[in-house]
Amino acid sequence: MEVIIRPDEGAVAEAALDVIGRLLASKRGPVMGLATGRTPLKLYAAMRASGLDFSAARFFNLDELVGLGPEHPDSFRRFLRANLLDGLGAAEGAARFLDGAAPDLEREAAEYEAAIRAAGGIDLQILGLGRNGHIGFNEPGSSLGSRTRPKALDKETLADYGPDTPRFSVTMGIGTILEARALLMLATGEGKAEAVRRVAEGPLSSETPGSALQLHPRVYLIVDEAAASRLARAEYWRWVWENKWRVGQ
Ligand code: F6R
Repeated sequence: MEVIIRPDEGAVAEAALDVIGRLLASKRGPVMGLATGRTPLKLYAAMRASGLDFSAARFFNLDELVGLGPEHPDSFRRFLRANLLDGLGAAEGAARFLDGAAPDLEREAAEYEAAIRAAGGIDLQILGLGRNGHIGFNEPGSSLGSRTRPKALDKETLADYGPDTPRFSVTMGIGTILEARALLMLATGEGKAEAVRRVAEGPLSSETPGSALQLHPRVYLIVDEAAASRLARAEYWRWVWENKWRVGQ
């Protein structure tokens, strides 16, 4: 895991855009997994403003709330269209979304897994982090080997997302997420500091689903100073950021 500590949200978005720029330079039609939520908004705005060529890229969304069909104003599909995909220069049909209103969610989940496989797998999965350590809607206690499936939201998540939030989601599993070739997790603000500490320095445990990132060989965890405030090894990571250009010198 590479922990990148930047001064503020804007600098977090810049560092994340740099990872995406390098991905596009290395592969013409990369497959990207997309989180929703507040955290990636600055990155998504930066991607749209970047002038990078996303015309050959393909996209999968990470999760969706159950009961919200494609046209529902609160659906994650609408969110990703409005905040990223419209205006990104992506090709028509380049994005595949989980359908929260599908009549058979188990089947929807299985077809989604098959579609990811058919696309050759995900090259870069963008992730946020719940205050309770969730990734996607894999709440504490989720199997570290889980696949895309319906999953109930826990109390803390419902409190964070607001009283009208559906109780159920359909989400990529932790096993699904770990199959992406690289993971890019963003976390900002003091409210995420404890979850960030558990992801980066805590024990590997289904009680902190994000700690599963410790199993993955290529993780960028990009945080602002507030979210890094509980990291015991923050100084180490700051030094690495300043000095990594020296590798091989
Ligand atoms: C959203 C998702 C969630 C969020 C997390 C943080 O697609 O999968 O795991 O990333 O709840 O949400 P924000 O960014 O709003 O704090």
